[in-house]
Amino acid sequence: MFDFDLFQHLTDGLVIMDSERTILQLNPAAHRLTGWQIGEKVPHCTFCQKRVLQPGEERCILAGKEPVSYFESEMPTVYGENLPVAFSTTFLPRNNDRDRQMVLVIRDISKKRKEEEAKMAKLLARQTIEAQETERKRLVQELHDGIGQSLYSISIGLNGLLYSTRDQHLQTTLSDLLHVLNDTMNEVKRLSTDLRPTSLDMLGLDAALSSLISRIERHSLIAIEYQSTLDYNDRFSPHVELNLYRIIQEALNNIVKHSESQKALISIQWIKNREGLTINIEDEGKGFPHGEAGKYSTGLGLKHIQERVNLLDGLLEIKSQIGKGTSLLITIPDVRKEMRYE
Ligand SMILES: Nc1ncnc2c1ncn2[C@@H]1O[C@H](COP(=O)(O)OP(=O)(O)O)[C@@H](O)[C@H]1O
Ligand SMILES: [Mg+2]
Repeated sequence: MFDFDLFQHLTDGLVIMDSERTILQLNPAAHRLTGWQIGEKVPHCTFCQKRVLQPGEERCILAGKEPVSYFESEMPTVYGENLPVAFSTTFLPRNNDRDRQMVLVIRDISKKRKEEEAKMAKLLARQTIEAQETERKRLVQELHDGIGQSLYSISIGLNGLLYSTRDQHLQTTLSDLLHVLNDTMNEVKRLSTDLRPTSLDMLGLDAALSSLISRIERHSLIAIEYQSTLDYNDRFSPHVELNLYRIIQEALNNIVKHSESQKALISIQWIKNREGLTINIEDEGKGFPHGEAGKYSTGLGLKHIQERVNLLDGLLEIKSQIGKGTSLLITIPDVRKEMRYE
């Protein structure tokens, strides 16, 4: 009846069972996937175990009158796990329904499931990052149009008062207030630029990074060495540029916040007409037990760096040695390509 070789060597599992679900035959692939043996009963899949039945309806969805051409569920194995599988069934020709035999074809789809889950995770990460960027844009607008404008009006008012009074004491107080106000306005501006680097859209990655680096140097004690083969002509898609900028921004923030290093190095290598781009960000600080950073830290910085690198189809390698420093090496093999999300 069967081509025995085909039955033996097929990578799909094949199970022949009777109408009582007793296994009459199974090929090595089916045994390997499920651990079932001849003479045992085929268990119900997780879908059928849980489904609500109409009166008189069979629990097994495959046991109906008609063969089923494709169905995905999970099958309990003897190894105590539920294996994600795709089924199809067909009936062997018999005279009556009672000794009807069914051929069950089982395909292991755990790899496919994992790929789908990875795809979903990537989509989710992208949506989270996009939502975050939209929110930052909104905040920048609020800061500029709301707080920024109000502070500006206050400064004009205070300046007016300053020039209209001859009272020395009032003059000193007003000019002190104007100093504080000036610092506050600069702080708002700095916050806006941190949230949304306008120079990135207009001038590209190289210019935006140079201005980020000089801002950080102004506000910290760290000397940052910046080497780059990029110039202002080298423009990538806005998504790519923003992701690379955010990766470097977070890595630098970490150096300022955690490393206790006095030096940092950023080097970007991109050879025109060769697609790959590498970014190396290093410090000579205290380092951290790498591998544990993700586990014990409540911070999202490194996690977001990893997610952004994933979105660019790149690789991230973090090396950190206690007392010696930390380095992040990012490789984007195909930086010219529009970001692919599917
Ligand atoms: N350059 C660095 N030097 C020393 N420690 C670092 C460095 N970068 C990250 N870390 C450690 O890894 C942890 C996780 O970083 P991150 O995910 O960015 O979260 P956060 O910065 O919010 O703490 C930090 O809390 C810090 O302990
Ligand atoms: Mg951080």
